[in-house]
Amino acid sequence: MIYLDHAATTPLSSSALEEMMPFLTDEFGNASSLYRQGQIAKESLDDARFSISQILDCNLDEIIFTSGATESNNLALRGVIENAQKKNENKKNYIPHVISTNIEHASVKNILQHLADEKIIEWTTLPVEKNGIIDIEKFKTSLQENTVLVSIIAVNNEMGAIQPLSRIGRICNKKNIIFHVDAVQAVGQLKVSIEYFKCDLLSLSGHKFYGPKGVGMLFIKSGTEIESQSIGGGQERGYRSGTENIAGIIGMKKAFEDIHENWIAEREKLQHLQHIAKKYIEKNISFALWNGPEIGEERSTANINFSLPQIDGESLLMRLDLEGISVSLGSACSAGMMESSHVLLALGRTENEAKNALRLTFGKSTTEENLKNALEKIVKVIHFLAK
Ligand SMILES: Cc1ncc(COP(=O)(O)O)c(C=O)c1O
Repeated sequence: MIYLDHAATTPLSSSALEEMMPFLTDEFGNASSLYRQGQIAKESLDDARFSISQILDCNLDEIIFTSGATESNNLALRGVIENAQKKNENKKNYIPHVISTNIEHASVKNILQHLADEKIIEWTTLPVEKNGIIDIEKFKTSLQENTVLVSIIAVNNEMGAIQPLSRIGRICNKKNIIFHVDAVQAVGQLKVSIEYFKCDLLSLSGHKFYGPKGVGMLFIKSGTEIESQSIGGGQERGYRSGTENIAGIIGMKKAFEDIHENWIAEREKLQHLQHIAKKYIEKNISFALWNGPEIGEERSTANINFSLPQIDGESLLMRLDLEGISVSLGSACSAGMMESSHVLLALGRTENEAKNALRLTFGKSTTEENLKNALEKIVKVIHFLAK
């Protein structure tokens, strides 16, 4: 198998698994218990929080552990909006205004769509330009008196566009608007630090950087007022009730430390692979339409994405699977129907181009050799289907 779908998920690293093992076996205590096993769990939880806070360059108590980025995004967005409503309940017809882009992940897009449909928020979706990046001037003009929250995806999961986060952050900070960054795909690509992003809220998910699935975190800058979205035992400073997933948190911490140590070299390695892949496809598939920014500063080095309008994407995916190659399409299966990617449509692609697009995402296990091997097979299958 050649796995070229690291934006979907990454394998658990052996070092993360090793650190998790004691907590999956002998050290099974609940961090809220007062006896020895509980205290071991509590200390390990505190150590993980400390280590992550050092990397993010924030305070210990600004990190809330969650079950993944979907939960972090729900807590961040709903939490801010509920708080704004509470604070303004005396104002007649008050509706908070929220800004996002039109290329957000479903875990942001669908929350905001729901709240807008319910008339709970006024929602501006900033259109990205053809290269997948927002225009700062358009962002500035979209700000309103009642804007309480801006939520922006740092690195797009489908076509790798990197948004001008610190510029957006600076504008939000000046205007006292809460700035949330969905940084799930930024780990390993950008310096994931609060100072760099200039954000108040930041979501991460462990399994996107070789940690375990089902664990994530939300950074909440102290002073940021948000309402908890879960009621229970009051863990995680009341923001996220429920017994902490100690093994998962330890695994995520270790994976985060490993990536942090090595991310610049790893990013360069991926860039080399990205150039190889792009050149090979360009040379061999004349009808490929490239999606997202040019290779360079504004694009993740882990991603290439191209549309193949004359090919049926599903057939391509299945044939590649038979060849032992795992990739993604620019479409998502929803309720049994294949839907075109809203991200590729936002770039100006037609339904057909957005549906039949191939995404290759590289990672630690991708080598020049296995990539070239996969590319040969990909080209062969595309030519076969294009006949
Ligand atoms: C940009 C982005 N945000 C959020 C998520 C949601 O993460 P999870 O499924 O781990 O909750 C993903 C997952 O694909 C993502 O790519």
